[in-house]
Amino acid sequence: MSLSAPAVITPHLLRATDLGRDGILELLAEAAELRAALQADPRAGLERLAGRSLVMLFEKPSLRTRVSFEIGIGKLGGQAVHLDHRTERLGVRESIGDYARNLERWTDVVVARVFEHRTLEELARTSRVPVVNALSDRFHPCQALADLLTLADHGRAPGECTIAYVGEGNNVCHSLMESVAIVGGRFLAVTPPSFRPDPGIERECRRLAEASGAEIVCSDEVSAIAGADAIYTDTWFSMGDSADPAGVRDKRRVLEPYRVDAELMRIAGPQALFMHCLPAHRGEEVLDEVIDGPASVVFDQAENRMHAQNALLVRLLRDR
Ligand code: CP
Ligand code: NVA
Repeated sequence: MSLSAPAVITPHLLRATDLGRDGILELLAEAAELRAALQADPRAGLERLAGRSLVMLFEKPSLRTRVSFEIGIGKLGGQAVHLDHRTERLGVRESIGDYARNLERWTDVVVARVFEHRTLEELARTSRVPVVNALSDRFHPCQALADLLTLADHGRAPGECTIAYVGEGNNVCHSLMESVAIVGGRFLAVTPPSFRPDPGIERECRRLAEASGAEIVCSDEVSAIAGADAIYTDTWFSMGDSADPAGVRDKRRVLEPYRVDAELMRIAGPQALFMHCLPAHRGEEVLDEVIDGPASVVFDQAENRMHAQNALLVRLLRDR
């Protein structure tokens, strides 16, 4: 394809809002169908993406995202190539646009984990193949899709449940909040005032919630989690956060009352699931008594990364 060809409208997934309500719900249904087919016969998906490929590049470490995309596309008959950008960020050796225009000549999808969300925006702006956010400083949409699928598996239908996110209002929190704002239900961000979700993203979520009927609540009161269907937490120190020792000490002190322990789960109530995107920092944001306890669905979430992403890849490549 020449560079002067008419622009194609490329669907990207940089954040949950790129999918919309129907997009999310269809994707969850397709993920469950694909999962059932693969569970019945591990070779059942091999024709779905035969001959297709994805490039995944990581400026930060990963276990779940890398393995679930790589094994996932393999189960659909395609192949993945991994590019390690942990020592050299995108845009250093060549421009992001030139990088994207090379990749699109070989691959059908680009999956990228980056420090700065604007790197993804630039990749998406310059790429003729879909770009998927595998985590940025602002969003982690693939995680949120797997989380909604996990909630549905445990009888908490999307649009009808209350997720209480406890801790720092970070990238994982933002994508969950957006997802609930789009599909409906209640989302509580229970954080210290100094670690609330980004106010701009919160505003957008409130606007989305007007259409979906969702309820978005930001509070610093742990008691707000009573009755929630799921208690969700994430690390207090995301990849790329400042390691300044005084700042780290202060942050730990401020976040300590938001640690998920047996007492916090008691406040939530016996119906509450425990969720975490992983990796967990046991003893910090969550204690073993919770993450290893009967309410924990963290490894279901990890497994569902693959199923949700498989559905996403099929959808992105269906008409291309
Ligand atoms: N949850 C998640 O994205 O895990 P990784 O950082 O291991 O990919
Ligand atoms: N908030 C964490 C999520 C890791 C999957 C981070 O950005 O490091």
